[in-house]
Amino acid sequence: MDAIAALHQRVSTPRLTAPGPTSEQLNILFKAALRAADHGNMRPWRFLIVEGEGLARLGELFARIAATKNPGITQAELDRCHALPQRAPMIIVSIAKCQVNPKVPQIEQIISAGAATQNLLNAAFAIDVGAVWRTGDMAYDPQVKQALGLLAGEEIIGFIYVGTPTVPPHAPREQNPSDFFSVWSQE
Ligand SMILES: Cc1cc2nc3c(=O)[nH]c(=O)nc-3n(C[C@H](O)[C@H](O)[C@H](O)COP(=O)(O)O)c2cc1C
Repeated sequence: MDAIAALHQRVSTPRLTAPGPTSEQLNILFKAALRAADHGNMRPWRFLIVEGEGLARLGELFARIAATKNPGITQAELDRCHALPQRAPMIIVSIAKCQVNPKVPQIEQIISAGAATQNLLNAAFAIDVGAVWRTGDMAYDPQVKQALGLLAGEEIIGFIYVGTPTVPPHAPREQNPSDFFSVWSQE
């Protein structure tokens, strides 16, 4: 798909199934992510690929953490936590990797990692790979961060669910640029 068409039409595809992306498709996604704007050439990002057994283990981790936080949790809620990562054949965990830099504040590093993540989503859409960016409590949980091996200065900014859409992408909602873009001029 043409780049501008992909940028104008991209939507999330929350309903995903197997197969996951091929290694060629993944490489396209990865290379797109790595072209994000990046102040100071810091590369303030890294990504973890979770698939197969890893998804089941991630679900076990989510359920275990939910149980420690809420001892009265129901079995149904535990099952739901366990099943969360299995909503796609692959999750790409998007991590902002912030370092102290006098010229590049942390917020710039986090938004740069966000830009890399959005590039990945745009590339996925352009080549018909389904994807949706999710977070939720587990993204910010210290135990999840520890279990996934995050280091000081690192934050999970997204669980990017990737796979084959079960239904074709819907048309994006029409938006009026003038609602968001306006000309500023000093009086
Ligand atoms: C940082 C971030 C976190 C998000 N977390 C969730 C989430 O946990 N659950 C969810 O349903 N959508 C989440 N979304 C929104 C979806 O990814 C998606 O953008 C939204 O449903 C709008 O759909 P669209 O991408 O097709 O316009 C998140 C988006 C961002 C940018």
